[in-house]
Amino acid sequence: ILADPVAKIAAVGGARHPSIPLPKDLFAPGHRNSNGIDLSDRPTLEATVAAVNRPLASGAHPGDGRRGQSEGAELVSAAITRAHAAFPAWQATPVDDRAACLERLADLLEEHRDELMAICVQEAFKTIPDAIGEVREAADFCRYYAGEARARLRPVELPGPTGERNTLHIEGRGVWATIAPWNFPLAIFLGQTAAALVAGNTVVAKPAPQTPLIAMKAVELAHRAGIPADALILTPGGPEVGAALTEDARVMGVAFTGSTATAKRIARALVQDDDRPIVPLIAETGGINAMIVDSTALPEQVVADVVASSFRSAGQRCSALRLLLVQADVADTVIAMLKGAMDTLRLGAPGDPATDVGPVIDQSAYDRLMGYRDSVRDRWVKTVDAPDDGLFVPPTLIRLDRIEDLTQEWFGPILHVATWEAGTLSETITRVNAKGYGLTMGLHSRIARAAEVAEAEAAVGNLYVNRSMIGAVVGSQPFGGEGLSGTGPKAGGPHYLYRFCAERAVSVDT
Ligand code: NAD
Ligand code: ALA
Repeated sequence: ILADPVAKIAAVGGARHPSIPLPKDLFAPGHRNSNGIDLSDRPTLEATVAAVNRPLASGAHPGDGRRGQSEGAELVSAAITRAHAAFPAWQATPVDDRAACLERLADLLEEHRDELMAICVQEAFKTIPDAIGEVREAADFCRYYAGEARARLRPVELPGPTGERNTLHIEGRGVWATIAPWNFPLAIFLGQTAAALVAGNTVVAKPAPQTPLIAMKAVELAHRAGIPADALILTPGGPEVGAALTEDARVMGVAFTGSTATAKRIARALVQDDDRPIVPLIAETGGINAMIVDSTALPEQVVADVVASSFRSAGQRCSALRLLLVQADVADTVIAMLKGAMDTLRLGAPGDPATDVGPVIDQSAYDRLMGYRDSVRDRWVKTVDAPDDGLFVPPTLIRLDRIEDLTQEWFGPILHVATWEAGTLSETITRVNAKGYGLTMGLHSRIARAAEVAEAEAAVGNLYVNRSMIGAVVGSQPFGGEGLSGTGPKAGGPHYLYRFCAERAVSVDT
C-alpha cells in the first residue's frame, strides 16, 4: 500500500498545475485509506482519485434490489457497523474532551496549512486566496464548534413549579452520515463532520467524488487529534455511496451540502422505510442569488462587489451572485464599469498567485456551462478571453428581459443582468423571492429605508447590504438558506449543534 498518494502524483508528473510543489510527507507512514486501496501504481492525479473512489463506485447501486451484494454496499455497511459500535464510548466521552479534540485538530490544520493548500489547488483547482480561506475556515469551524459545545451541550437544571428535580440532557443521537460537495472540500467537509462529532455522534463521512484526497488528509489529522478511528470513518465514492449511507436504517442523522435535487433524494430515502426511526436531515443547497442596486449606490463599490461575488472561485460558491438587478436610471453606467472591470480579470493556473479565476471543477461542469453560454450567445453583454488549454469558462455577463427568465442555478462564472424601475424595490424583492430559493441576497443603496425594506422582505438566509455576497465568517455570519436552498440551521451559528443532538428530560421526585 502506498502511504503517500499525493507525493506519488508529484513524482510521476501527473500534477495538472505544477506551480505549487506538492509536499512529500503528506500521509503518515503506514497510512491506509479507509478502503485499503493500493494506490502505488496510479500514474496521475485523476487515476489516484479514481482508485480511491473505485470499489464503491463500481458496485451495484444499493437501491437497485441487490442491497448487500456489491463490494461498495458492503464497505458502507461495515463502516456503519463500526461507527455504531463506537457510539456509546464516544458519547460517554466528556464534552470537554471531545471539544479538546477539535481544538487540537484546528492546531494541526494550521500546522499543515501548506500541504492542505497544495491538495486544494491540485485536486479542486482552488486559487491561492481561496485555498488559504479554505484552511482558515476549516480551523475556524473546529474552534467555534468546540467553544459552542463547551458552552451549550451540558445538562441544564430547569426550575419550575413541579417540586421535582428536572434536568435536560443534550446528547448525541448515534451514527451520522456527513455528505459534502467538492467546492469546499475541506471547510464544509470538516465543518459538518466536526459539528456532528463534538455533539457526541460518531460519523461516517463521504466527500465528493472529485475531492477525496483532501478529505483523506483531514480525517488522518482528525485521528491524530484524538478522535478514535471508529468514531470517524471515511467512505469515499460517488452518489451510490451517499445513497447506501442514507438508506441504512442505523444512520440517525444526515448532514448534507450540495444540490437541491440531491437533498430531495436524500429526504425521500430517509422516510422510505416504515420501520425506520424519524431522523433529522440538515441540508444546505444552492440558490439563484440576486443583488439589487439602486440609483443611490456607489458604482465603484458595486462593481468591486459584483466581480468578487460572481467570478471569484470561478463562480463555484453556493453564495455567489447569479442575477444582478440594476435600477434602470443607472444601469448603463454600472454595466459599462462592470465590463471594464471584467477586462482586468486574470484567468490562469490556480497555483499562480496572480490568478483571479481558475478552471471549473471537471469536464462535465465545463460542458454544461459552455453549452448554456453558447445557447444564449445573442444575449451576451460581455465576455473575456480565456486560455484554450484547460477547463476555463470565460466570465460572461448575460442580459435578461425579465427577472423570471432565470430559472436555475448556473454554478460557474456566469452572471445575468436585468433592470428594475424606481419605486419598485419591494416588488422586485417579491419577484426574486418567488423563485423559491432563499440563500443569499445583496442590496446596494445609500437609502436607510431601502435596507429596512430588504431586511423585512428578502426571504433569504443571508442578506448582505453594501458589500459582497460571499465569504460568510464563522461565528459572526452564520450561513445557510431557506426554501429550496436548505433546511437550516446555519453552519457557524449558535443553533447548529443542537440539530445534531437528542434532548432527554429527566424528572426526579426528590
Ligand atoms: P451534488 O448534490 O451533486 O453532490 C453533493 C454530494 O452529494 C456529493 O458528495 C455527492 O456524491 C453526493 N450525492 C449525490 N447523489 C447522492 C444521493 N442520491 N444520495 C446521497 N448522496 C448523494 O452537488 P455538487 O454538484 O457536488 O455541488 C454543487 C452544489 O452544491 C450547488 O448546487 C451548490 O449551490 C451547492 N452548495 C451549497 C452550499 C451551501 O452551504 N448552501 C455550499 C456548497 C455547495
Ligand atoms: N460560506 C460560503 C460563503 O459564504 C459558501 O461564500
